[in-house]
Amino acid sequence: MLGSTVVCWDINEDNNKKTVDELGHLGYKAHAYNCDVSSREQVFKIAREVKEKVGDVTVVVNNAGIMPCHPFMAHNSQEIQRIFDINVMAHFWMLEAFLPSMINKNHGHIVALSSMAGLMGIANLVPYCASKYAVRGLMEAMAEELREGNHQLDVKFTTICPFIVDTGLCKKPRTRFPSLLGFVPAKKAASEIIKAMRTNQDEVSIPNGLLLLNHLLSSSFATDRTSASGSSFATDLIPASGPSFATDLRLSPIGINGRNTSCNLVIRFASKA
Ligand SMILES: NC(=O)c1ccc[n+]([C@@H]2O[C@H](COP(=O)([O-])OP(=O)(O)OC[C@H]3O[C@@H](n4cnc5c(N)ncnc54)[C@H](O)[C@@H]3O)[C@@H](O)[C@H]2O)c1
Repeated sequence: MLGSTVVCWDINEDNNKKTVDELGHLGYKAHAYNCDVSSREQVFKIAREVKEKVGDVTVVVNNAGIMPCHPFMAHNSQEIQRIFDINVMAHFWMLEAFLPSMINKNHGHIVALSSMAGLMGIANLVPYCASKYAVRGLMEAMAEELREGNHQLDVKFTTICPFIVDTGLCKKPRTRFPSLLGFVPAKKAASEIIKAMRTNQDEVSIPNGLLLLNHLLSSSFATDRTSASGSSFATDLIPASGPSFATDLRLSPIGINGRNTSCNLVIRFASKA
């Protein structure tokens, strides 16, 4: 941990304490605070306590997130609101609380957890996808605004887009080709996040190549959602130019919580005719 003091915030007091105890046993300095990050009031209250006890925070990792998985019509309004309060609004409250001291000190790093679901629409995850797209927009715009305001400012922004990490967030995940696109162990994901932060990446996926693959596919292919049944990767893909394909190539449909999302990382080459 390179000598840093870790401050863990979580709504789950027991798990948070376990994490901090583990860090303590390993010889690291760590503090646990109970906080519902969707509450602006709590975020500001705990931020003040941290400043008094530990000092100014120089790295914030906005990690808290929830992922209810069912068809849009089965979500109720409270659940949709909760997804946005935790997955999106919490990021605003954390920025409000911690960015000013980073700007004053000209030193800081904000890391935010988006998702590959922030790059593609996925069935049964409509509010979650929308929340993860929002995180990417927030991070990109925030970084751009600060960069335009002061080119010398040394406050950095890194957005992380994992596919599936085996933390339990994604209930009963399954993938068709695990050797091609398996689930990432939590420890590996954590080390990828730290690597991305230390090398000042704007945005990375976990596994690493997925973001590039997504950008390449979306820039190389015109999209047409109506061309094939089921849903697709980001979209059903039809080559914008060159020969048309009539192949339906399913790379790796995944399922979550016993439901087939029937969409993720399905690359479907459909005929243009
Ligand atoms: N696990 C995956 O496959 C995966 C994939 C893509 C993106 N992500 C994103 O990564 C982040 C971390 O996910 P994870 O897999 O570690 O999930 P997790 O459920 O294991 O951990 C999330 C943590 O957030 C805490 N939390 C939830 N609501 C909170 C609140 N209101 N205030 C404070 N803490 C709260 C939970 O108690 C938990 O400790 C999330 O934002 C998630 O959307 C995860």
